[in-house]
Amino acid sequence: MNSMTILLLIFSIFTLPSFLTSKEAEYLYHVCSNTTTFTPNSIFQSNVNHLLSTLSSNANSSTGFYNDTVQTTNNAVYGLFLCRGDVAGTDACETCVANATAEAPQRCPIEKEAVIWYDDCMLRYSYESFFSTSAENPGVFLTNTQNVTEQTRFNQVLAASMNEVATEAANDAYKFAAKQTKFSDQITLYSLGQCTQDLSAAVCDRCFGVAIAQLPSCCSGKQGGRVLFPSCNVRYEIYPFYAENPIAPEPTPTEAVRLAEDCTGTATFTQNSAFQSNLHSLLFTLSSKTTRDTSFYNATASSSQNPDDTVYGLFLCGVDVVSTGDCKTCVATATLEAPQRCPNRKNVIIWYNNCMLRYSDVSFFSRADDEPFAPRENTGKVTVNQSRFYEVLAASVTELAAQASNESSKFAIKTEDVSGSISLQVLGQCTQDLSSRDCNWCLRRIIEKVPRIQEGGRFLCPSCRLTIEVSQYNVHTPSSPPPLPPPPASIGARPKGRSRLSPYIIIVGSILAFIAVTVVLGYCLARRRAVRNNAPSQENGRDDTKTLESLQFDLGTIETATNKFSDNNKLGEGGFGVVFKV
Ligand SMILES: *[C@@H]1O[C@H](CO)[C@@H](O)[C@H](O)[C@H]1NC(C)=O
Ligand SMILES: *[C@@H]1O[C@H](CO)[C@@H](O)[C@H](O)[C@H]1NC(C)=O
Ligand SMILES: *[C@@H]1O[C@H](CO)[C@@H](O)[C@H](O)[C@H]1NC(C)=O
Ligand SMILES: *[C@@H]1O[C@H](CO)[C@@H](O)[C@H](O)[C@H]1NC(C)=O
Ligand SMILES: *[C@@H]1O[C@H](CO)[C@@H](O)[C@H](O)[C@H]1NC(C)=O
Ligand SMILES: *[C@@H]1O[C@H](CO)[C@@H](O)[C@H](O)[C@H]1NC(C)=O
Ligand SMILES: *[C@@H]1O[C@H](CO)[C@@H](O)[C@H](O)[C@H]1NC(C)=O
Ligand SMILES: *[C@@H]1O[C@H](CO)[C@@H](O)[C@H](O)[C@H]1NC(C)=O
Repeated sequence: MNSMTILLLIFSIFTLPSFLTSKEAEYLYHVCSNTTTFTPNSIFQSNVNHLLSTLSSNANSSTGFYNDTVQTTNNAVYGLFLCRGDVAGTDACETCVANATAEAPQRCPIEKEAVIWYDDCMLRYSYESFFSTSAENPGVFLTNTQNVTEQTRFNQVLAASMNEVATEAANDAYKFAAKQTKFSDQITLYSLGQCTQDLSAAVCDRCFGVAIAQLPSCCSGKQGGRVLFPSCNVRYEIYPFYAENPIAPEPTPTEAVRLAEDCTGTATFTQNSAFQSNLHSLLFTLSSKTTRDTSFYNATASSSQNPDDTVYGLFLCGVDVVSTGDCKTCVATATLEAPQRCPNRKNVIIWYNNCMLRYSDVSFFSRADDEPFAPRENTGKVTVNQSRFYEVLAASVTELAAQASNESSKFAIKTEDVSGSISLQVLGQCTQDLSSRDCNWCLRRIIEKVPRIQEGGRFLCPSCRLTIEVSQYNVHTPSSPPPLPPPPASIGARPKGRSRLSPYIIIVGSILAFIAVTVVLGYCLARRRAVRNNAPSQENGRDDTKTLESLQFDLGTIETATNKFSDNNKLGEGGFGVVFKV
């Protein structure tokens, strides 16, 4: 497939969206390479026909993927079809593959290589074997032309959700995953990712990495987008475009707020270089490692040819945000934004409220770096005996540094009273590749750099960070001690007729509720599996009205768009989609 021409072309989808033609296969795009062709009525052609008919007859109610080879002396044709995970094994899959296998010889009459994409399926064949390898070329991008509001946060939520889908799909037996994420009360984001099933998890992962890396350039700010490669595809919309899964969407994550960045290093790379490709792969690896119990991950990406193209990178999340999913959001944002904010730079550090991301062409693992230093001091001034404050602060940080460096998490938190009304909270964290000694050094180094911290803040180094919060509270010396919480009343002693629940009842209630939730969750999980494993035709409820509303099509636009497949159409204008090859 690499031999296919690389060109840019823009045009609009000329079939109406699926809600108008829901029973028919919806064609999207095709690519045939005219660099290798066969002569009509040749053995090769007969092999192609044989292959297509085998593929078509294997798209029945029990499959969603099939690969086959037709081999004769000097002539082989390799081919496969892939149905979208949620339609696999349904009539939609069968219909789609039937149409694709019938259309392919018409659209690519003499070409030896072809890929044809539909909404519900994909068909590919070639004279060269491509099984088990990832092809990210040719690529097709489609966008929904409607804009999103709150673009920055949308991109963050999208990136996090896509990365999660990619990780899940790469490790899924059917190489498919879909996910809903609540963006706001009104808007839910639906994301989907799928690889062909001949790929291993690692190869699939890589394909997703390349696909997701295209989203900012193709689809940023848009309500929907797709990247279609021969080996994998990703898609997102703000309406359900796949059979919905019954699990409720996760809570809205908190936004990643960028605090500082450093791309002052002079080393640069060129576009489409091996370094860039390694960087994409590294960033993808990092963002896919944000599980709910990982606050740190370091990785290396290199290509076999040239060790100079190796990229080293890591992320570090606040230990406190890992379990909430905010680490995932933050790292997803960082991996997306860093290459945009520091274009072509080989040495980049970017700090957010919830995480830090760093990469370089030189290994920095196990090395304590206190430069560049990014102090983000709070403003305002605490009315406090300054010399006492510094004393307490210095002592706290010393203790904290010893504590954090002693922990395998390289994280510690400490609260100290400065005076009757002022308290100090210090949080310290090092990257986990540091030795105990280096971590200790790094944290203490910060306080040496800013000995006169007045109001707290965040103090960021590449290898460690300190967060200092000073809180002042009004002192109301109570004349009598605060009321004690009421003693846990036993049921028998409680006067009848009062409506308050006793702690006992509340506890029993909570346990029952917990059990109920567990049972329901378990049921949902089981059901989800079942839906995936069986034909999900009942679940395949494309809500047409909803789709129509969400898309808010302007019929005038569609007409204009379908009238002329002009290359002059500007990107992002003229109907439902934008398509171009990479
Ligand atoms: C292949 O396609 C390109 C672009 O569409 C065209 O310029 C070229 O002439 C074609 N080559 C052949 C052999 O048909
Ligand atoms: C689906 O196709 C495969 C291969 O042709 C065949 O073995 C299987 O029995 C078919 N299943 C159904 C339900 O038709
Ligand atoms: C494929 O489906 C389209 C409608 O989506 C239809 O117009 C076309 O005739 C079909 N092609 C074949 C070969 O059945
Ligand atoms: C979407 O935003 C772009 C620029 O941000 C603007 O040019 C375009 O008109 C907007 N499209 C719609 C449909 O609002
Ligand atoms: C299908 O793909 C696998 C690789 O994933 C390959 O080993 C196998 O030979 C292929 N099957 C056929 C019939 O070509
Ligand atoms: C401020 O604190 C220092 C050290 O604790 C103490 O020696 C000094 O007397 C204090 N000054 C005031 C005005 O309280
Ligand atoms: C560090 O860990 C060791 C062994 O777990 C313990 O004895 C020591 O007190 C710890 N030091 C600090 C400063 O927490
Ligand atoms: C992570 O860092 C350690 C050093 O702390 C290094 O030995 C290891 O190879 C790194 N892992 C990767 C995947 O680069």
